[in-house]
Amino acid sequence: MQKSVACDLAILSAVTMVAIIAPLPLGAADDAKMSAIERVNATEKGTLKNPLPITPEIVAEGKELYQTKTCGACHGANGGGIHCPSLINENWIYGSDDDTLFRLVAIGSEGVAKAGYSRGDKEKHAGPMPPFGEAISNEQDLWKIIAYIRSLKAGAAAK
Ligand code: HEC
Repeated sequence: MQKSVACDLAILSAVTMVAIIAPLPLGAADDAKMSAIERVNATEKGTLKNPLPITPEIVAEGKELYQTKTCGACHGANGGGIHCPSLINENWIYGSDDDTLFRLVAIGSEGVAKAGYSRGDKEKHAGPMPPFGEAISNEQDLWKIIAYIRSLKAGAAAK
């Protein structure tokens, strides 16, 4: 009888330990799988920061994603802008920090306006910037795109 109680306790504590330990690795896996929109919703305004190292490989992957996600249809294949803002001039309509750029692409220009980001009276454009946060199912892809866009601005500044 006593043995069985001890055994039950052992099982109980094993189960409890699993319950305590499990959320850590599971949570980490969920983090890695967050879409851009989930990341926006899970993160306090003003605190998003590119976690990736800015290497030529990351920038090259960002360039590829920029094309497959159709950004170039509005901003030009090389970011020079068509009807939509140039991504290679010195103006940033909502701001140039990581947090603002990530949110703008994820929730669109109407989304950031609702969230309290001001565009002021800068460059007027035909339409709003559509939200891409659900289409970008891995948040890291959006950070790669942002790294690529920054490389364009840096290139323009160097000219
Ligand atoms: C349907 C056209 C369209 C598409 C597609 C589009 N954008 Fe935009 N984008 C806009 C417009 C319009 C604005 C300006 C919004 C405003 O003035 O309020 C903008 C603004 C921006 C800005 C701010 C530019 C600045 O100078 O401050 C960035 C960065 C940006 N878009 C990135 C992207 C990325 C990355 C993609 C692809 C994932 C993308 N856009 C796809 C229309 C588009």
